[in-house]
Amino acid sequence: MKTTIKRIGVLTSGGDAPGMNAALRAVVRSAAFYSIECVGIYQGYQGLIDNKVKLMNARSVNNIINKGGTVLKSARCLEFRTKEGRKTAFETVQKNGIEALVVIGGDGSFTGAMIFQSEFNIPVIGIPGTIDNDIFGTSHTIGYDTALNTVIEAIDKIRDTAISHNRLFFVEVMGRDAGHIALNTGIGAGAEEVLIPEEDMGLDRLLESLKRSEKSGKSSSIVVVAEGDKTGKNVFEIAEYVEKNMPYYDVRVSVLGHMQRGGSPSCFDRVLASRMGVYAVEALLEGKSNMMVGMIKEEMTLSPLEKAIKGKSEINKDLIRVSDILTI
Ligand code: F6P
Repeated sequence: MKTTIKRIGVLTSGGDAPGMNAALRAVVRSAAFYSIECVGIYQGYQGLIDNKVKLMNARSVNNIINKGGTVLKSARCLEFRTKEGRKTAFETVQKNGIEALVVIGGDGSFTGAMIFQSEFNIPVIGIPGTIDNDIFGTSHTIGYDTALNTVIEAIDKIRDTAISHNRLFFVEVMGRDAGHIALNTGIGAGAEEVLIPEEDMGLDRLLESLKRSEKSGKSSSIVVVAEGDKTGKNVFEIAEYVEKNMPYYDVRVSVLGHMQRGGSPSCFDRVLASRMGVYAVEALLEGKSNMMVGMIKEEMTLSPLEKAIKGKSEINKDLIRVSDILTI
């Protein structure tokens, strides 16, 4: 190990994601393993501003690997976006002898981390935790796999009632500006159509496709709509448009919302979070900073935080092709 860091801080920030606790556990226990101290910071950057911190040891993270949410709590902290806020946050860092930070969160949290690092020269390593999977430099973010499974379970249930009533359901899923959740759950749940921000399908093509489905003998249908879809209409407006043009369909809308962020993390997310947590602490001890831990082809990697934020996590075009073929 190259550095003499004796105490690190860890926080969870932005939208919570299942598996954040597993990542926290891994960070705290790796710190204990390498005989350095670890301070938990509550409510993301807000806890740094308000000096809400607590020294943690290997036992502080007992029995949390299976828990959804984040025991450290999270926040989208507006104050940290100001120079004043970050100055106060750095005072907390100094007061508590924190020499490096692990930030578990999404792109907004990483942007904050980069600015903080450049202003106060404190080493920072990011761990990608968001259900959206919209971070460049990793094939999976923590929480994404669990969210996919949660959505699939919900759509399977919607399918039961859709079939019973011969209804057409529009199901809105999360993902902010990314269509990963929509596309994968659309295929996994056997949806007729998937509307994602990366591909503007257009309402006319949607109508054509639904008419084809109806003609081919389908009596009920499910359309998965990403919340950031680019048709320029929200899910209710899309549903209304389709109902107007296909009056024989009984249309319903279901917005899955924040239930997608909750629940016990899947095995995949727990293992991913555990690996990332260990790797993040080791990276800090190796003297690395301003980097994000990722997983590419099953291997742990490090990439610059700047790339993680600015790069685009591309949608897999083959999934669009597969989805189109299977909706025949
Ligand atoms: O980034 C995770 C996410 O759940 C997005 O999918 C969604 O757009 C957003 O957070 C919702 O944010 P909030 O919980 O602040 O309403």
